[in-house]
Amino acid sequence: MSTPFATIPDDGTPLRVVVVGAGGMGRAWLRTVEDSPLVELAGIVDLDLDAARAAAAAAGRPDLPIGTGTAALASDVGARAVINVTVPAAHHPVTTEALAAGLPVLGEKPVASTVVQGLSLAAAAELSGQLFMVSQSRRYNRHLFEAKRLSSSLGSVGIVSAEFFKAPHFGGFRDAMDHPLLLDMAIHQFDMARFLLDADPVSVFCEEYNPAWSWYRGDAGASAIFEMTGGERFVFTGSWCSPGQETSWNASWRISGGNGTVLWDGDNEPTIESTGAAAGSPAGSPDPGQEIAGSLRDFVAALRTGSTPMGQVHRNIMSLAMVEAAVHSASTGTRVAVDALLEESYREAILAERDPGVLEVLKSWPSVRAALSAP
Ligand SMILES: NC(=O)c1ccc[n+]([C@@H]2O[C@H](COP(=O)([O-])OP(=O)(O)OC[C@H]3O[C@@H](n4cnc5c(N)ncnc54)[C@H](O)[C@@H]3O)[C@@H](O)[C@H]2O)c1
Repeated sequence: MSTPFATIPDDGTPLRVVVVGAGGMGRAWLRTVEDSPLVELAGIVDLDLDAARAAAAAAGRPDLPIGTGTAALASDVGARAVINVTVPAAHHPVTTEALAAGLPVLGEKPVASTVVQGLSLAAAAELSGQLFMVSQSRRYNRHLFEAKRLSSSLGSVGIVSAEFFKAPHFGGFRDAMDHPLLLDMAIHQFDMARFLLDADPVSVFCEEYNPAWSWYRGDAGASAIFEMTGGERFVFTGSWCSPGQETSWNASWRISGGNGTVLWDGDNEPTIESTGAAAGSPAGSPDPGQEIAGSLRDFVAALRTGSTPMGQVHRNIMSLAMVEAAVHSASTGTRVAVDALLEESYREAILAERDPGVLEVLKSWPSVRAALSAP
């Protein structure tokens, strides 16, 4: 069950943080941290010290302390929180180390490589009494918030669809991985659908395929139909090898209800045709901030006030569960129940857990679904 986390009352000074992971996304985080008055960059951690040094120089802070160990550097520089921007395989060890050292963590998506590891991290957060929040950055978008507000006028919403068609030539690991679209990209749209509907996944049927002209080794196309907890259907269809008339990186959305429809192209203001009235202020939604700057603001506000941020680990695991369930459905040709996937992952998490304290927390959960949906 999720428990309250330790807060760090605002004493008028910015929160000192270390950034772990000095790769492409790590550099984006370094710029965002440097630009924010809420936080102060205290050091950079990377297994590759040359990468850490180069990132410090690129951030205009060549003298910034660097190191290879998260807890050690954080202690040396007096940091109060960690931003984990390592590769997914390192999310579990780095976040576990930071939480055990009494440091709250803001981590890049996905929560971990697997739901099994995500459950371990949720239990580790409970054990430490520290906040672990996953930065699911595409939620922090003013237009997405406005699309959600407008959809409150649609009556009962039954269908949400997202189309994602892009043609990036990344080179590197994405070109060689097994499920490039589902594993590396679709988690954003799956998470956005949960946000728009205030609902969690029940089951999914998914097909993956690789168009004849694809430059990816793994399947670059996928179509998935999710049943959500309110009975709604969320339909995702996308491709990473579709040049021409490309959609937004946010995807192109249709939200359909009994009274009308909201459309959002992912880049501009959403539009609506409805016979109902939208909830909230007619002036529109509050600004959630933009992408990682928005999630950083949410993280610091949670630490300062005890508010629950959008990516709190227990809730966020359900977005990775959607990805794993879709991959499983595509590989077996069957509809996959998310509860079955969660139960199996929970059994595996208990078998795999090496930390006795974390194991005890895992075993104390009344059920995995109840633990993840607790406030
Ligand atoms: N939100 C988004 O839109 C978005 C976009 C790109 C990447 N990401 C996420 O950001 C994360 C990083 O992606 P990237 O593209 O920067 O990867 P990258 O490979 O460019 O960089 C990762 C860095 O982590 C370091 N590292 C690996 N294991 C480590 C460990 N145990 N301790 C310390 N450092 C370690 C590596 O040496 C490397 O410098 C991933 O989780 C990815 O999914 C998110």
